[in-house]
Amino acid sequence: MTSDLRSSEWYAGDDRNSFIHRAWMRRGVPDSAFDGRPQIAIANTASDLTPCNAHLNEVAQSVKNGIYEAGGIPLELPVVSLGETQVRPTAMLWRNMAAMATEEMLRANPIDGVVLLGGCDKTIPSLLMAASSVDLPAVVVPGGPMMTGHFRGEALGCGTDVWRLSEEVRAGTLSQAEFTRSESSMIRSKGHCNTMGTASTMALVAEALGTVMPGLAGTPASDARLLAGAHDTGRLAVQMVAEDRRPSTFLTRASFHNAIVALAAIGGSTNAVVHLLAVAGRLGIELTVDDFDRIGGQVPLLVNLQPAGRYLMDDLQRAGGFLAVLREVRDLLDPAALTITGRPLVDYLDDALIWDQEVITPRSSPLQARAGIRVLRGTLAPGGAIIKPAAASPRLLAHRGRAVVFDSIEDFHARIDDPELDIDEDSVMVLRGCGPKGYPGMPEVSNMPLPKKLLARGVRDMIRICDGRMSGTAYGTVVLHVTPEAADGGPLALVRTGDWITLDVHARRLDLDVPAEELAVRAPSRATVDGFANPRRGWERLYVDHVLQADRGADLDFLVGSSGSAVSRESH
Ligand code: FES
Repeated sequence: MTSDLRSSEWYAGDDRNSFIHRAWMRRGVPDSAFDGRPQIAIANTASDLTPCNAHLNEVAQSVKNGIYEAGGIPLELPVVSLGETQVRPTAMLWRNMAAMATEEMLRANPIDGVVLLGGCDKTIPSLLMAASSVDLPAVVVPGGPMMTGHFRGEALGCGTDVWRLSEEVRAGTLSQAEFTRSESSMIRSKGHCNTMGTASTMALVAEALGTVMPGLAGTPASDARLLAGAHDTGRLAVQMVAEDRRPSTFLTRASFHNAIVALAAIGGSTNAVVHLLAVAGRLGIELTVDDFDRIGGQVPLLVNLQPAGRYLMDDLQRAGGFLAVLREVRDLLDPAALTITGRPLVDYLDDALIWDQEVITPRSSPLQARAGIRVLRGTLAPGGAIIKPAAASPRLLAHRGRAVVFDSIEDFHARIDDPELDIDEDSVMVLRGCGPKGYPGMPEVSNMPLPKKLLARGVRDMIRICDGRMSGTAYGTVVLHVTPEAADGGPLALVRTGDWITLDVHARRLDLDVPAEELAVRAPSRATVDGFANPRRGWERLYVDHVLQADRGADLDFLVGSSGSAVSRESH
């Protein structure tokens, strides 16, 4: 066996330990498996409890075929999977745990490279964080979106239409029975959510970063081309090992620049901000939340997909796919950024044409001229907060209103539909206790449903401010990721119902209009200090003690950076 492969540290030689490592792996594999062939793990997030990823075993089989064909040995490695709709209290609480467990298993095992299979929201981020910290050759295969379902002749967007239809029920314009009937129409096939939610966003952003085979992200889960792409990715993983193409060799600040341009052009999920900051932190790349505004703020919105627009992911594929979008903003991309193939991302754009200008608009007629995420600062968010103008109401982007404060999501649910609640369409809804430490886990609750009595009057958007996140499938004028969070000493804990709050997105300001002298003597709300953030043991204890704020990607402080792939000691 050649000695330059990492796996040879386990398998080469004729001593007792190499005997043990080889012997237990001989379950039908030939001698040649240990004779200098690259050992490629397939980190697989397939799980029946992650329905969006349940089909990844089939994808893994295609990856295996490609690895074998290229002379490697495929080794499936089931890793922690997170079903966004299933796990409580929020999948985000477990993203760092999944990343840490995957990182350790990649490092601990005799592998030379890895193919990462993800789909549902947190799975691709956790896999990328792990691979970046282990720094072995790694390539992502996104599981792909599901096919569009229809109800009463209308296309249904996963997530986005749940929010829309449930608001219609609360407004009294849709019956409960019809709402329930729509449920079986929404999830039509295997795959992840078909809106431009977090799963779709992270698949496309992973490709913009250079970690997916160019042109593969966005391919629907049930499209035969996904399996062909998975096969080719398996072959590529073997080549990446031969060429030692590790994340640290091609992921640079330029890669993140391209990811931010792509995020704005597709009108992607705000969750990409925390995920990209976390991945950059693992790689030691200087990236701040302000980069999203500075780089993305000038990028036009070109993709007409829910929640910001009308269409769904299989429409994007039909209209030319992600590369056709990137081709329109080619001049904004950094041409130096490389991909897993060793070639620059911009090399793949020449033939990418738009076939439906309703779905992908040309640069000359964008849906919005400047669509990127805006970063706000001010007395209410000294560490920053973000807003997605593409999903907001333009009339609310500059607004002053009176705060109506909720101390927790439970407090919100208990009071929001109280007819006596003193609130109108000019009020600013404030929800706190939902940050990384405060919840804990920074859940997707910032897009608070509007009060029933205002919905009945036809109000469909109001300003909402929160230290949590919002679903990538959600819409509205929502200021989120307020930093520092209330439970970490942020001024959000000092706001009282009736205070005036000024939002000015054009000036990038979010201010609590209360004199500093008065704030200095206000005690923070006890609810946000005591809250639910006092776990006594287990992962939650570790998380609350070490989680960073949203502006650092909500990673754990001791997971930032890389440990590489070296293992110092033998197991026997
Ligand atoms: Fe899995 Fe939306 S719930 S991607």
